[in-house]
Amino acid sequence: MTTMKCPVCSEPLIRGEKEYRCGKNHSFDLAAQGYVNLLLSSKKHTAVPGDSKEMVAAREQFLGSGAYGFLRREAAQLCVRLMQDRRAPVVVDAGCGEGYYTCGVSQALREQQSPGEIFGFDISKFALRSAGKKDKSITWAVDSIFDMPLETASADLVLNIFAPLAAEEFARVVRPGGYLVTVTPGAEHLFEMKQILYPQPYRNDIEPIAVPGFVQTQRLTIRQTMELEGRQQIKALFQMTPYFWRTPKEGRERLETVEHLTTDGEFILTVYRRY
Ligand SMILES: C[S@@+](CC[C@H](N)C(=O)[O-])C[C@H]1O[C@@H](n2cnc3c(N)ncnc32)[C@H](O)[C@@H]1O
Ligand SMILES: [Zn+2]
Repeated sequence: MTTMKCPVCSEPLIRGEKEYRCGKNHSFDLAAQGYVNLLLSSKKHTAVPGDSKEMVAAREQFLGSGAYGFLRREAAQLCVRLMQDRRAPVVVDAGCGEGYYTCGVSQALREQQSPGEIFGFDISKFALRSAGKKDKSITWAVDSIFDMPLETASADLVLNIFAPLAAEEFARVVRPGGYLVTVTPGAEHLFEMKQILYPQPYRNDIEPIAVPGFVQTQRLTIRQTMELEGRQQIKALFQMTPYFWRTPKEGRERLETVEHLTTDGEFILTVYRRY
């Protein structure tokens, strides 16, 4: 079994009924919602780091509609294929948000074999409050993925879906022969929505990113047309995107009047193998 490390002294953390505790007696409460907060206040760069309550609620609402279900299925099947020959693999969802994909991967792995341990890490406590309730068999922790509470070379697979790429830390925790799987937007991801927001929308840059310590072994693009109904669902999707922060007022206002949007979700899944 893989245990998490104490963020203060790096000794193994042992899970009790209501807390995690290390041999030096540093303890971290298990929240009622099923996660532990391992982010030391000295490591917080802002008072409330990561995604806000509103961003988390918007994502939860949109993902709950099933519009990105095709990505969840594809990511889960990819993880199952990559892990099929391993006994009790250790899987980490780095920047897991509300755990939508973490739960999908966990379920698919459990149908095939018994995973050693599945971790979901995110720096937003609001995201973890919602993730922790979804699947108690997953170990959920508030933490920075740039400094994960895991031993070096202890993970078989790190998933990184629309979250910051903590390249050096991923190379540290993934064991040789293990994998990093990233999900990033395709060139035309949500292009029809961008046509409403901007007079001259650009296509996303999809140049592959080299990750030191890994070789890229697979890259696959998936695409599906989505029919979004009603202003609320469209707004929830908009709030999940980086455009929410950078679109000028006129563009936002144009989108706010749209009742029905047909737009493609396009994702690139990239597999890297640790050498
Ligand atoms: C766009 S969301 C994606 C969440 C989830 N993977 C999904 O696709 O639904 C990015 C997530 O990264 C988290 N995040 C940002 N910086 C982080 C860090 N340094 N450590 C851990 N999580 C971080 C945010 O809190 C947010 O939940
Ligand atoms: Zn300790």
